[in-house]
Amino acid sequence: MKCTAIVLAAGQGKRMNSKIQKQFLMLKGKPVLYYSLAVFEESPEIDEIILVTGKECIEYCKKEIIEVYGFQKVKHIVPGGQERYDSVYAGLCACENCEYVFIHDGARPFVTEEIIVRTKEAVKKYGACIAGMPSKDTVKFADENGMVESTPNRSRVWSIQTPQVFAYKLIRNAHEKARQYDMKEITDDSMLIEQYGGVKVRLVEGSYENLKITTPEDILVAEKILEKNS
Ligand code: CTP
Ligand code: MG
Repeated sequence: MKCTAIVLAAGQGKRMNSKIQKQFLMLKGKPVLYYSLAVFEESPEIDEIILVTGKECIEYCKKEIIEVYGFQKVKHIVPGGQERYDSVYAGLCACENCEYVFIHDGARPFVTEEIIVRTKEAVKKYGACIAGMPSKDTVKFADENGMVESTPNRSRVWSIQTPQVFAYKLIRNAHEKARQYDMKEITDDSMLIEQYGGVKVRLVEGSYENLKITTPEDILVAEKILEKNS
């Protein structure tokens, strides 16, 4: 039962507003992407890793991350695409004989072995699962004019994280189908299963620490989390 992790690091990080892409910013002396990769490298649940990054970052990743930290499981480094779903698709195309695929944001350095184990259990049972946590905030649906339209019951609202884990054929087929249509609303892989998968996606507990580095404040929080955990 081969499990492959696709780690995504081909984004531009526009919301971070920094010269260096956020996945390569240093946290306590190591790039953000190092931490995300290390968890999959060390996990007995994972057989190999496909790293997706910008064409111009492939050499940097090879020399400064894979070689420097001695990662053994990274089988391919492939160029990503314009949108996240293009990068995921590039990763899916690079998978070989994979049964389950873990799709993970390289900008999410605090994924844990426990989350990998929980999602793997769930994917074996349901075929599709995503990590997330119950929303701490009340969320609102807004109308086009910025007025509140309605309020979903908070106990049923989850904030979604990665990894998102799927039976390989299921997610590959969903991507193939979706690519025939307009994908601009697609922000995660679960949405493709919701629309084209024909199975329900299981929610699995991630952790509140499993944040995505998105804006500058997140770097400060990430440093605090690292200090606490070391
Ligand atoms: N990603 C990717 N390819 C893209 C877009 C995003 O591999 N074309 C990756 C990012 O590198 C990141 C993850 O997907 O690890 C989550 O995306 P997001 O947080 O949106 O990152 P960016 O797109 O880089 O940031 P922004 O949206 O602020 O520009
Ligand atoms: Mg983005």
